[in-house]
Amino acid sequence: MNDLAIQIQDITKIYSSNNVRAVDSLDLEIYKGEIFGLLGPNGAGKTTLIRMIVGLLKSTSGHILFDGEELSVNSTKWKYHIGYVPQEAAFWKNLTVYENLNVIGTTYNIPNKELKERINHILEGLYLVEHKKKLASKLSGGMQRRLNLAMGMVHDPQILMLDEVFVGLDPQTRNYLYDYLRDFASKDNKTIIITSHLMEIVDALSDRVGILDLGKMLAVDTPENLKNTHGKGDILEIEVDKEYDKNLITKVEKSAKDLVVEKNEQFIIVKTLNAIAKIPEILNAIEDEGFTAVDVKLTKQSLETVFISLTGKELRGD
Ligand SMILES: Nc1ncnc2c1ncn2[C@@H]1O[C@H](COP(=O)(O)OP(=O)(O)O)[C@@H](O)[C@H]1O
Ligand SMILES: [Mg+2]
Repeated sequence: MNDLAIQIQDITKIYSSNNVRAVDSLDLEIYKGEIFGLLGPNGAGKTTLIRMIVGLLKSTSGHILFDGEELSVNSTKWKYHIGYVPQEAAFWKNLTVYENLNVIGTTYNIPNKELKERINHILEGLYLVEHKKKLASKLSGGMQRRLNLAMGMVHDPQILMLDEVFVGLDPQTRNYLYDYLRDFASKDNKTIIITSHLMEIVDALSDRVGILDLGKMLAVDTPENLKNTHGKGDILEIEVDKEYDKNLITKVEKSAKDLVVEKNEQFIIVKTLNAIAKIPEILNAIEDEGFTAVDVKLTKQSLETVFISLTGKELRGD
């Protein structure tokens, strides 16, 4: 009856130690079966929000509902329903991969035989089978990240929350994590929330994206729609060889379809969809006016450009 996995209603978190309003009157609805990406720069409030959703941090005010129901802090539903993979390592370094998963699994009262099967299944999916007898401390960084993920999934949760799990992963590990997570979400209508300050990851993996900054949700939509609504297209920065005036801007504007052209000192800034195809006409128009382009920089439309257009600053301030 209910397609919503999580309803976040007017949630605020003010840390009392420093009075920082880390999450500010935030509303958000997350659907069953979707991969939801929470994108924002460091300090935006992603971890704070995630920790409130998983019940590790008490909100200052507001409500969070699962399947339309507000849970009390020690609710067993909370424990069995949700998996949480934190930013930091959440395993025992002096246990082997298998032992780690076995210990965490027993805290969920999973019958032995079933637990064994589940662990093996997860180890296969995350390419950890041949490392299962290794001490966690002896694993490479990428393998430790995968073990961390496995630790949050042993109990086969309905909702999985992943906080910055893609940091420092090589492209290959990243790609099979993508596949693994997509497969997980498409099974049984499961829900995944990922946080990241890396827009390529959020863009590639998420069905919908929420853009967070300073504790506020600035926009929520599919990556495609966000780019089309807020992204104003690719950005071309063309540096010309000498001072120019409005006349050149007007000429450039007319050189191809749907260009938004601005002057920024010696640069001509052109915003448009599919800029690559229009570069020759634009450069011709500049030359016809007696100017030479000495440098051309193209920034393809991305969630980064969406973020810039929403906040006026770059995502990667760190
Ligand atoms: N335990 C804490 N005590 C006080 N302030 C905190 C604490 N955790 C985070 N903050 C502050 O809250 C804001 C949001 O932090 P965080 O949720 O960690 O953001 P993100 O995960 O997006 O990087 C930041 O200004 C941060 O300094
Ligand atoms: Mg964080």
